[in-house]
Order: sequence, then structure tokens, then C-alpha cells
Amino acid sequence: MRIVLASSEAVPFSKTGGLGDVATALPKALAQVGHDVSLFTPFYQQIIAKRGSSVPVIEPTGLTFRVTVGSKHVEGQILKSSLPGSRATVYLIEQPHYFNRPGLYVEQEQDYRDNSERFIFFSRAVMEATRLLNLKPDIIHANDWQTGLIPALFKIEFQGSPGFERTASIFTIHNMAFQGQFWHWDMLLTGLDWKYFNWRQMECYGHLNLLKTGIAFADLVTTVSPTYSREIQTPEFGCGLNAALSSRHDDLFGILNGVDTEVWNPATDPHIAQNYTAATVAEGKAACKAELQRRLGLPVRPDVMLLGSISRMTHQKGFQLVEQCSSMLMDQDIQFVFLGSGEPRFEQLLTKLAESHPGKVATRIGYDEPLSHQIEAGADAFLMPSEFEPCGLNQMYSLLYGTVPIVRAVGGLADSVVDSSDENLANRTANGFAFREFRSDVLFWNICRARALFADKQKWSSLQQTGMKQDWSWTHSANEYQRVYELALEKRRNSRPTSDSTTRSVVGS
Ligand code: ADP
Ligand code: GLC
Repeated sequence: MRIVLASSEAVPFSKTGGLGDVATALPKALAQVGHDVSLFTPFYQQIIAKRGSSVPVIEPTGLTFRVTVGSKHVEGQILKSSLPGSRATVYLIEQPHYFNRPGLYVEQEQDYRDNSERFIFFSRAVMEATRLLNLKPDIIHANDWQTGLIPALFKIEFQGSPGFERTASIFTIHNMAFQGQFWHWDMLLTGLDWKYFNWRQMECYGHLNLLKTGIAFADLVTTVSPTYSREIQTPEFGCGLNAALSSRHDDLFGILNGVDTEVWNPATDPHIAQNYTAATVAEGKAACKAELQRRLGLPVRPDVMLLGSISRMTHQKGFQLVEQCSSMLMDQDIQFVFLGSGEPRFEQLLTKLAESHPGKVATRIGYDEPLSHQIEAGADAFLMPSEFEPCGLNQMYSLLYGTVPIVRAVGGLADSVVDSSDENLANRTANGFAFREFRSDVLFWNICRARALFADKQKWSSLQQTGMKQDWSWTHSANEYQRVYELALEKRRNSRPTSDSTTRSVVGS
């Protein structure tokens, strides 16, 4: 299959969260099983330059294009690169005015005021570049609100035109909380007829909604775990779009993300003090833990449970629960390490805890990739009490690193972590701690349960072994995407062309 993927972030070029990881791990896995994959992402020049030697060579293709965004004709260039160790091709869209900025979406805690214009441009650029490069895709796969316009552009302007005769579109939701909602006049920027600004397609409570647009127009819709695919059809998790999702119930699939095991593998990880496997986890983790404690200025104590967290410090990730039980937690003989950034309230809380309990808490505000690997390897347990979690990647990294996750059983956390109930411990399916109720006393109780089990070396080792031996690689997920792509193609073959499939003129040069 020829597959075009579009994402507003992709490692090693750019990343603010799990989308960046998934946007390259999926193409790599699809290319590995023989598909012809092209990944489109913006060329954030300043951000890519900062990443230095970890970024593959980026070359010009010599192709430029011009697309219409509202009343402007905007030019862009297509650059080409690759993904390390993969046959997938990366195309970077260069447009310095939109993308050469210090942040991807936000600067000094403020969204860029022209985010709709930037990503409407990017969506149009992906379609135009696909045409110019003559990629003739079977599948166009867009991700999250930033590329939510793509399925609409495809259906309204490109479907059935030369190079797009057989194409079907897929839209993946990574997080319902970010919807790309803008004032209604931004509809003019899309270049699409006002008739699409209705409650079934692009409009939501009077606003233009690009996530809803993707959901409405894609041939099939996926999200990043089976549990989240059910949750988002309910008012509790649907963020106002549960009805839009329920109306596409038969076209909605939940596929759990995988782990890029070339990046996250304790046996080969170059960032950690000692590499280890399931057979050598006891010694390996002890060495990594001692090194982490030393590096962070915590007392080097093998006997104390070290609880790690690497996360956006936001409400989604459940830091309000940590806040509510923080004084009780500080009374326990447990060490904590927090890495991340986010809402000032939580950054301040965790910084203050580290200041007032220096032998117990180490907090690092910021983004630090090597340290994130060292925490996964050195911590005994990993904290993810999310309010909601579409998939979550760190609990899977933790399972592979023998770091027992303590999670709230929602979304992808519910699909990957099996609670240490007596029954699950007895039949050796338990790999962590999972609780339902979003309450700080429940979180506290589960951390205490974990600490009690940590003291029982045999039971703890059984939890570690179960997680480490499970297959969290992308192989299974890539097969599931392939199945959804096939279904989408079948759906397209069986549907008659719509009257909307007239091509708009776009200027290429
Ligand atoms: P989300 O995308 O909702 O933030 P995920 O669990 O899907 O959550 O993915 C988060 C990704 O970002 C993981 O790869 C995690 O290791 C990484 N990450 C988050 N915060 C930091 C940080 N401060 N430093 C390094 N990596 C981080
Ligand atoms: C989002 C979600 C996270 C998921 C990631 C990748 O950022 O918050 O749960 O793992 O996307 O799909």
C-alpha cells in the first residue's frame, strides 16, 4: 500500500508529547512490513536546529508550491529526509513565517494567535505536495486537529481527481481535549463553502472545530486505545463531541499504540548506567537506581521504593490528586522523582516539595530526554494517575523497563496495566496497580499497596517479569492499522463518487 501520513510533530524533528513518538513509530512499523510510507510534518527550523546531530540529513527536493489560505496565496517548499533505520520517507513543509518560531503551538504559555491559519496552510500543503510528488496514495492518514482539515479537503476537493482515484482517508484522534476550535470567521481560511459549517460537519457551538471536521469527513476514524474509543462516546470523556463520535460508531476503531523498541529497550538503551534484560533486571535496575539517586542528590538507598513520573504537569495527568495527598505521601518512606513541565500550579507544588523534602523528592522542571530514560530504568515504580488518558506511552515504557506502573484504569492505561489483585497475582497476569476512582485517598492507598508489595521481593519480581515479557512493540498495532486501511479502501470501492469531488485549482510551480 502507498500510505501518506500527516502529523504536526514527529521525532526526531519535533515533539511536545506522545503524538511525536507515534508519528514516526507507526510509519517505521508500516514500512518494515513492506508498505510505501511518506510522512509529512512541518519544518520547524529553529527547533530542529536545536536538536543538532540527532536529526537525519534534510535536503531540498527543489519543489515549491503555492496554496490559498483565505485571501492569501502562500508559498512553501518541500524538503526531504528519512527516519533512522527505516525506508519510510519524511517530507518537511518549509514555510518560515508559519513554522520558524520558538514553539510548536505555544510561546510563553500563549497559543499562537494564527494557529488555525498555520495548520490550515499545513493541511493544504500536504494535499498539494502529495499531488506534486505524484505519490498516488491508497491511504491518507491525518492525526489530531492540526491535520483535521485534510479529510475534508480530500473528500471535497481531491477525491477521484488524478492521483487520488483509489484513495481513502483515515483520521486518528490522539486527544479529545485539544480540538482546534476557532472563531467562525476562520472558516474563510479553509477555502471551503459555508455549507459545510453545520453541526454535523465543521461547526461546534458556533465555532470552527478542526477535530470535529476530521471526525466528520474521514472514511474511517481511529483512536489510540480500545477503551478510549468507548469512553469518548460518553459525555464524561467526549469533550462535547460524544454525539459526533457516536454517530460514527461503526466507523470508529481503537488501536493501542506500541513502543518503538529501538528507542525504548533496557538491553540497548545508551542513556542508562547499566543495560539489562528480564533475566538481569535485579542487578541492572539496582545499578540504574543508585546512579539516578546519585545524579538527583537523593540518598543512595536500595531498600526505599523510588517512584518516578515523566509527564506534562497538567490536570489530564492527575497532578491534582498528588497535590491533595502530598502531605500524607511525605510521611511515607518513599522517594519521588518528577520530570516535566506544565501548569505553573503543579510546577510550583512539585518544586516546593523538593525544596522542603530534599532527601525524599527530586523535581526537574523542563524537557530532558536522557533523564527520562534514566528515570524509566532507575525507578522501582511509575506514577500515572490520569484523569483521562487516550493511550499513554510511559506506562508501556515502564513495563518494558521492569518499572511497575501505578495508574488510574482509564483509556490506554486500562488496556495495558493489570492490577495486582490477589487473583491476578496468583495467575501471574498482574503487571502493576490500577484503580478506578479518581480520588486522592484511592491514589494514596494504591501507592501504599505498591510499597507493601515492593517489600516482598518475590511478588515484586513476578510483576516485573510479567510486564517485561509482554509484547509492547508496534508489530501488533501496525497490523491493526493495516486492517483498518483495508476496510477503508473497501468502503471507498463500495461507495459511489460524491457530487463534491470536483478539483479546485491550486497553483504548483
Ligand atoms: P502525552 O502525549 O499525553 O503527553 P504520552 O504518555 O503519550 O503523553 O507521551 C508523552 C511522551 O513525552 C513520552 O515519550 C514521555 O517520555 C515524553 N515526555 C513527557 N515529558 C517529558 C519531559 N519533561 N522530558 C522528556 N520526555 C518527556
Ligand atoms: C496524546 C495522549 C496520549 C497518547 C498520545 C499518543 O497526547 O494524551 O495518551 O499516548 O497522544 O497517541
